[in-house]
Amino acid sequence: MSATQPWPYLRWIAHRGAGKLAPENTLAAFRLGASHGYRMFECDVKLSSDGVPFLLHDDTLTRTTSARDTLGAKHSATAGDHSWGTLARLDAGSWHSRAFAGEPLPTFESIARYCLRNSYFLNIEIKPTPGLERETGDVVARHAARLWQNAAVPPLLSSFDVPALEAAQMAQPELPRGLLLDTLWPGWLETALRLGCVAIICDHGLWNSSSMTQAKSAGLRTLSYTVNDEVTARRLLGLGLDGIITDRIDWFSPASL
Ligand code: G3P
Ligand code: MG
Repeated sequence: MSATQPWPYLRWIAHRGAGKLAPENTLAAFRLGASHGYRMFECDVKLSSDGVPFLLHDDTLTRTTSARDTLGAKHSATAGDHSWGTLARLDAGSWHSRAFAGEPLPTFESIARYCLRNSYFLNIEIKPTPGLERETGDVVARHAARLWQNAAVPPLLSSFDVPALEAAQMAQPELPRGLLLDTLWPGWLETALRLGCVAIICDHGLWNSSSMTQAKSAGLRTLSYTVNDEVTARRLLGLGLDGIITDRIDWFSPASL
């Protein structure tokens, strides 16, 4: 997909599956997001120590899994230190609420199959364990290309990490990429263009008429995270934003906006 081709994605994107209404980055979250009418999702993907891509936001297991109880106090907190066999034993739902107790960490492949079977769109945020940036970009892109090989619309790969996006570009140049920004650091636009990106995905406070014009004039689509109130959403849509990543799947209804 080139930056000039029609944008195949949806305006409303459920952050980590269902925002904060379900344990983030789990299949249960995706199902809940879908029950609220969402048809496009964002999730965070990193690698186990044996190279299996799976969903988790943090570098460590502490906040969103049962690692301390299941693996004992002496376990390494770093998620990427553990094999998939070990990670698959963890409870990634109890931290959120009792209703989700026992919800497992999902493999990227299981989430991909859920999205493909239901014709949902996916924004895959490559979230590498520090030190594994290039390897993660490479492996996630290869798996995404394999899983979506017969799909009409490929997933949108994104990352804050430039080496991860470079590796994804080298591995699977045809998969669309977006550069995530939490600041407008010097050279952001040139870097996005060098990486062959089709989109810039900014913290919502960074979008104004100047940054929007710069991105659009360069042929890039514009998205924003994490937009959780109506005033901000209306401001961004007024600027011409193409996509909104939100936690508030209970507040924003994609069908009516
Ligand atoms: O991909 C958009 C957004 O998820 C980026 O921030 O920290 O929620 O992964 P974070
Ligand atoms: Mg994310």
